[in-house]
Amino acid sequence: MIRKCLFPVAGYGTRFLPATKSMPKEMLPIVNKPLVQYGVEEAIGAGMKNCAMVTGRGKRAISDHFDISYELEHQISGSSKEMYLESIRGVLNEGIFTQVRQREMKGLGHAILTGEALIGDEAFGVLLSDDLCLNDGPGVLSQMTELYEEHQCSIVAIQEVPMDEVHKYGVISGEDLGSGLYKVDDMVEKPSAEDAPSNLAIIGRYILTPDIFDILRSTEPGSGGEVQITDALQTQARQGRVLAYKFKGLRFDCGTVPGFVEATNYVYENVYTNNG
Ligand code: G1P
Repeated sequence: MIRKCLFPVAGYGTRFLPATKSMPKEMLPIVNKPLVQYGVEEAIGAGMKNCAMVTGRGKRAISDHFDISYELEHQISGSSKEMYLESIRGVLNEGIFTQVRQREMKGLGHAILTGEALIGDEAFGVLLSDDLCLNDGPGVLSQMTELYEEHQCSIVAIQEVPMDEVHKYGVISGEDLGSGLYKVDDMVEKPSAEDAPSNLAIIGRYILTPDIFDILRSTEPGSGGEVQITDALQTQARQGRVLAYKFKGLRFDCGTVPGFVEATNYVYENVYTNNG
């Protein structure tokens, strides 16, 4: 049973400036819900009730979002507006929120290592809230926890992308085991199209075994001069201990403006309008 999910939320969100000058990019709403709440709901839905946030300076709004707002509760208590708080109340009742600050931005691998204090010695999920995943059945992390129960190793979510986009992702290659599952033998962070081992790109959902922390401690900075989780996972992959999984569902790259707008339109038309 995986109980904890790590949320690296310390990044700057420069692509959305000036909106993200004083507001965390993870608080940008897709219609009426902040991106990070979609992620937290997916994690809790997968049984990961401990949401461990790796935050940074200027990210207080995230902590406040996952806490009670007494003024607001008082103001709308008993009124018809109370219903607007329902979805966040559900999350607050079910989740446990912890946080640690990443003082310097040294890459996703460094952010995950910073989260060790909150995770300890157990397998855990990682969710990058920029990647919004939506589907009708079980969420992506639920699909992955089921696989973890069976295989007990690190698992990354993957998706096929056009070859001219592989440079934006971690890319894997491996043996096709059927049912969307691959035994990973190679992984490269942000390769050029010529160097990419395939067009199977990692998207922001991981299940990691806790030995990843020791590996991260000795992983040298890689692509972009940053410590990359892809490089640390490559060490596990060489030992045959990483699976990649083509998840079921849609994924929107909300770290870019076009992906964000696409997600907004999709949620407005298919989720929001139907529910309310
Ligand atoms: C990170 C990872 C990359 C992965 C991507 C998914 O990159 O380093 O391997 O493919 O997330 O969104 P970033 O988007 O933070 O540059």
